[in-house]
Amino acid sequence: MSCDALALASPEYVRRLSPYVPGKPIEELAREHGLAEGDIVKLASNENPRGPSPRVREAIAAAAAGVTRYPDGNGFALKTALADRFGLGIDQIVLGNGSNDILELATQAFLRPGDHAVYSQHAFAVYPLATQARGATGIAVPARELGHDLAAMRAAITQRARVVFMANPNNPTGTWLAAAVIREFIASVPSDVLVVLDEAYNEYLEPAQQANSAEWIDEHPNLLVSRTFSKAYGLAGLRVGYGLAHPAVAEMLNRVRQPFNVNSIAQAAAIAALADAAYVEESARLNRSGLEQLAEGLAALGVGFVPSHGNFLLVHVGDGAAVYEQLLRRGVIVRPVANYGLPEHLRVTVGLAVENRRFLDALRAVLGR
Ligand SMILES: Cc1ncc(COP(=O)(O)O)c(C=O)c1O
Repeated sequence: MSCDALALASPEYVRRLSPYVPGKPIEELAREHGLAEGDIVKLASNENPRGPSPRVREAIAAAAAGVTRYPDGNGFALKTALADRFGLGIDQIVLGNGSNDILELATQAFLRPGDHAVYSQHAFAVYPLATQARGATGIAVPARELGHDLAAMRAAITQRARVVFMANPNNPTGTWLAAAVIREFIASVPSDVLVVLDEAYNEYLEPAQQANSAEWIDEHPNLLVSRTFSKAYGLAGLRVGYGLAHPAVAEMLNRVRQPFNVNSIAQAAAIAALADAAYVEESARLNRSGLEQLAEGLAALGVGFVPSHGNFLLVHVGDGAAVYEQLLRRGVIVRPVANYGLPEHLRVTVGLAVENRRFLDALRAVLGR
């Protein structure tokens, strides 16, 4: 079968999809620019810069002996640990291959071709992608000061809407809304529309800012909270995330889930990571000091940025594409965000102090300041 014939066989909405563009891998930049990998700083994918917790390394080593077996497809031990953590039933937890998987499962379980999914302008790129992959229509609601305009989002929820996505804090803007405001919004959404509250960066918030969103599920059975081990827990490469939901919602996601979507090493590592509160606290502390370092450095350069509640900063550089390329030549990988409607910005992940310094020095050189 020719390529053309293959293309014709796939639905029009799949052919129109532009694939997700991840941050440039270190190895790729090294190959392309003849740089040594050790000289490259990657601040492009909102990863944890610290390396894994020793307890996670031990759990991974111990789990290695079991890789000839399929993983527990129900993830019993990890779900039990999460159920304890959140005071939920084990039937209220869905495990995902990263929280990205949870977002995909939500669209698979709840969107039909022609349905609407509502999200904000400048929202996480996976929402429009997953929506379009189901033949549904994404409604991107204009942002207010780069953040979610909840009144406008509420107004966009028409009869055809089946899912609403909301990241708090939001990527790539770093904007954040207080728990009371989010809860009021959820209460205003019709009960037959699924609200996906994506809290991938929750652990970076000050403890007092963190919403007890799992406690809202009883009152709002149409709420799906998604969380991840990729960020503050430092397991991005293992791909583990989870959804918290009413048992009936969790059941629908589990019906469309691959039977072994979270591998055995990832499950063991996530259990160890969940138990290592000190690692998460230290990640959040390091992030706060990194954000301060970047903010001070950018202010000294006269470069604007959006105050962030995540582990990244949206920086206003002017010509985003040109500055991105020139930073690459200096061995610094950040993330262009023109695909988010932000061509004048770059998103910079908070790294170790020495990595943040490298970025600031490279930016100073590129901007000639
Ligand atoms: C807002 C948001 N949600 C979800 C994810 C998915 O992360 P993961 O699949 O690694 O859990 C990301 C990743 O950057 C994100 O920024």
